[in-house]
Amino acid sequence: MNISVIGAGYVGMITGVCFADRGNKVTFIDVDRGKVDKINNLLPPIYEEGLEEMLKRNGGKIDATDDYARLPDSDAIFICVGTPSRKDGSINLDYVKEAVRNIGEHMGDKWSVIVVKSTVLPGTTEGVVIPMLEKITGKKAGIDFGISMNPEFLREGKAIYDFEHPDRIVIGSYDRKSEELLRSLYAPFNAPLLVTTPTTAEMIKYASNSFLATKISFANEIGNLCKKLGIDTYDVMKGVGMDHRISPYFLNSGAGFGGSCFPKDVRALISAGETMGNDMDILRAVMNVNDRQPIRMIELLEKHLGNLERKKVAVLGLAFKAGTDDVRESRSIPVMEKLMEENAKISAYDPLAMENMKKIFGSIEYCQSAEDALRDADGCLIMTDWDEFSRLDFDAMKKAVVIDGRRVVENREGIIYEGICW
Ligand SMILES: NC(=O)c1ccc[n+]([C@@H]2O[C@H](COP(=O)([O-])OP(=O)(O)OC[C@H]3O[C@@H](n4cnc5c(N)ncnc54)[C@H](O)[C@@H]3O)[C@@H](O)[C@H]2O)c1
Repeated sequence: MNISVIGAGYVGMITGVCFADRGNKVTFIDVDRGKVDKINNLLPPIYEEGLEEMLKRNGGKIDATDDYARLPDSDAIFICVGTPSRKDGSINLDYVKEAVRNIGEHMGDKWSVIVVKSTVLPGTTEGVVIPMLEKITGKKAGIDFGISMNPEFLREGKAIYDFEHPDRIVIGSYDRKSEELLRSLYAPFNAPLLVTTPTTAEMIKYASNSFLATKISFANEIGNLCKKLGIDTYDVMKGVGMDHRISPYFLNSGAGFGGSCFPKDVRALISAGETMGNDMDILRAVMNVNDRQPIRMIELLEKHLGNLERKKVAVLGLAFKAGTDDVRESRSIPVMEKLMEENAKISAYDPLAMENMKKIFGSIEYCQSAEDALRDADGCLIMTDWDEFSRLDFDAMKKAVVIDGRRVVENREGIIYEGICW
C-alpha cells in the first residue's frame, strides 16, 4: 500500500518505518525541515532502539518532505502530530487541526482513509476532524474518503518491539471500507483486533494511560508509607502483583511518571471532565502524588546535607526513562528547578538525553560521564533507570549522599544511601 505519515516524531517514525518494513511505500510529511533531511539521508530524527537499522534497510521505500503539495495519492494517511497540554492542562489541538487543514487542501482524487493516530479526546475525530475535512474538500466522510481513529500504545525505548507485537490493535472505524483497509494493513502483525467507533477508540487510549498512571501513583503512595514503616515496598508489590487480577506491571515505586503521554493525557482527561461538570477525583489524586515525588527527593537530600545553597548535586539521568532521549516531563526537570531555586550547583549527566535537556536548561553543567558529574559532589540524585547507574563508583564524591529515585544502585557500601520509597 501507499502510506503517508503526517508528523515524524516518536509515533510517526515508528509507524512509518514498521509499515515500510512490511512492504509498504511510506511518505513522511513533517514541518520540521531538519527531521525531513535526516530521514531522506536515512538517519533517524529521534533515538529508538533498532530504528536506524530498520530505516536503512527500507530506504528504497521511504521518502520525506515538508511540502504538503507533495502529499502522494495514498491508501492511508496517518495523522501522528503532537497533542500537547496547554498551560491549564487542556489538550492543544492546533497541530492536529493544521495537519487536517493541509490534508484537506492537498488530498488527491483517489479514495484514502485518514487515520487519526495522535491521542485526541473522545469526540475529536467525529466532531473536529470530519467536519473540517468535509468543509475543505466538499466531499463526504465515509463515502468519498474513509475515517478511522487508531490509537497507539507503544512504549518509547521499546517502540519497534511494541509496534510489531502489540497486545491489541484498536480500530475505531467510521466506515466499513476504512475498517477493511486497516485490517489488511495490520494483518502481518497478527495481533488481537478490536473494532469500535472512533469515539470509543479515543476513550480506550485515555482510559489505558490513566489506569497505568494510577497504578504508578498508587505504588508510590504505598511506597511512601512503607518507607516510614520500614517495610520494603518492592517485596510488597511483588506479592501484590502475583495476583493475576492486578499483574506485576507498573507497580515499581520511585520518582514518578514523566514522558510525553501519561502526564498530559491524565491532565487532558481531568480538564475534559471538569468542562463537563464531572470531577475526576481519582485522576486528580494521581497527579498530586506524582507532582510530590520529585520534591520528596530534594527533601531526602536536605535531610543529609541541610541547606543546599552552593552544594554541588550530581543529577544522573535526564531522560524520562531509560532507552530514550526524550526529556518531556522528565522527573529530573522539577528536581533541577527546585535545586536552582535553592541555589545548588548542578552537574548533570545522561547517556542519551543531554542535547534535548540543553534546550530546557542551557546554563547548567553537563558532564561527559557519570564519573565526571560525581566528582567533588556533595550529593547525587538518580532520576532515570539507566543500567549503567547500577554499578556507579561514588569514591570521588565529596560526601557520598545518594538518593535513588529508581532503585537502580546496587553497590551501596560506603555511601549514605536512601531510596525514595525504600
Ligand atoms: N511518544 C509516545 O510514546 C506516544 C505513544 C502513544 C501515543 N502518542 C501520541 O502520539 C502523538 C504524537 O506523539 P509523538 O511523541 O510522536 O510527538 P512528537 O512531538 O515526537 O512528534 C510530532 C511531530 O509532528 C510534527 N508536526 C507538528 N505539526 C505538524 C504539521 N502540521 N504537519 C506535519 N508535521 C507536524 C512535529 O514537527 C513533530 O516531528 C501524540 O498525540 C501523543 O500523545 C505518543
